[in-house]
Amino acid sequence: MNVLVLGSGGREHAFAWKIARSSQIDKLFIAPGNAGTAQEGTNVDLAVDDFDGIKAFCLAEKIDSVLVGPEVPLVLGIADYFEADSEISHIAIIGPNKAAAQLEGSKDFSKRFMKKYNIPTAKYATFTKDTIEEGYKFLETLKPPYVLKADGLAAGKGVLILPTIEEAKLELKDMLEDAKFGDASSRVVIEEFLKGIELSVFIVTDGQSYKKLPEAKDYKRIGEGDTGLNTGGMGAVSPVPFATQGFMDKIENQIIIPTVKGLKKEGIDYRGFIFFGIINVKNDPYVIEYNCRMGDPETEVVIPRLKSDIIELFEGVATQTLSERDVEFDSRSAATVMMVSGGYPDAYEKEKTVTGINSIHDSLVFHSGTKKDGPTVLSAGGRVLCVTSYGKNIEKALELSYNNIGKISFDKAYYRKDIGFDVVDESK
Ligand code: AMP
Ligand code: GLY
Repeated sequence: MNVLVLGSGGREHAFAWKIARSSQIDKLFIAPGNAGTAQEGTNVDLAVDDFDGIKAFCLAEKIDSVLVGPEVPLVLGIADYFEADSEISHIAIIGPNKAAAQLEGSKDFSKRFMKKYNIPTAKYATFTKDTIEEGYKFLETLKPPYVLKADGLAAGKGVLILPTIEEAKLELKDMLEDAKFGDASSRVVIEEFLKGIELSVFIVTDGQSYKKLPEAKDYKRIGEGDTGLNTGGMGAVSPVPFATQGFMDKIENQIIIPTVKGLKKEGIDYRGFIFFGIINVKNDPYVIEYNCRMGDPETEVVIPRLKSDIIELFEGVATQTLSERDVEFDSRSAATVMMVSGGYPDAYEKEKTVTGINSIHDSLVFHSGTKKDGPTVLSAGGRVLCVTSYGKNIEKALELSYNNIGKISFDKAYYRKDIGFDVVDESK
């Protein structure tokens, strides 16, 4: 089987690492990829939204299956593009079509969907420029802090949490009247603030049945103790100690099953991963958001815990035979720590020489933003690489990752020293 992975981050490196270890893989390509993915397969210089270019490449290399890493091509309709073209409609796209990707592509769609199917989520209402006055009134019915969400994709920046009603009103105006997030904020979801601890839950579905993947917890803030600006994610652990069997059963019964059934009822043929952003409020799960893809850096701990051949799963999705496939997971814990460029998530410098990667043999190094310059690896993004380790518990896995990340260096590198701080004691 020939597989193309779309994307260029740590998530795609982790996928490529796993696909490269399948007994069924013939050729593996990653577009555009990074210096890490180049160790697993062949990088291809194509943008993830260049559908015509991707088509031509798939035909030339006889690609059987395309795994779509990031949300943008999914929300733009890459699956529909392939399905509508008889030259490439035989190629399996692992990722939902445009209608299904709205679970992530439109907050208003996902909230309406959850309300319709009785899936626990924060109380909300949606407003446009024409209903801004009602938006102000709705804000007055809520308690602080106030949660404002741009309806469309806003590169992970579209959620604002404001401490006062005055700020909330100003931001609402900014989003609706002054297009703070462009078209993405022409509609704004205002919702009740939920207090609790978050976790990320994943399934892969063929539209009929689904398989659960291990859950994970990511650490989004730049600073230790979960302080400072939001980032793409500074580290992750799996499993999550507070995700007890009882709690996971609630998630399955109240959230996963109604979501998969609801999609079917809506006539939406969802084929791919669903990422449920969950918040635990007094031991009851609520959906904070859906994503139509895997998480990053969660993938870097979830996929290493998958023991089965990942291509089996892809085939199950493509031929709607997922229910017949076995999926096995590693009982060990996994933890990853992200190394970023100093200054990130604000301005940072790139093209720094990264050293020490080759000295690591008992952890996995997944590249997030790197490129090759001859034999040298250079930083090429805010998040540069992450170090994933296994352990008999999260604490042991973290210990190994921290031991090894200390061997890697580049100018102005930074990483959080406290990944797992809020869950490790429970896992001992
Ligand atoms: P999202 O982009 O939807 O994941 O939102 C970003 C982050 O905002 C989430 O991971 C939460 O930490 C936070 N958040 C979003 N919605 C809520 C809510 N209703 N209550 C509390 N926190 C929220
Ligand atoms: N780590 C969160 C995300 O991928 O959206």
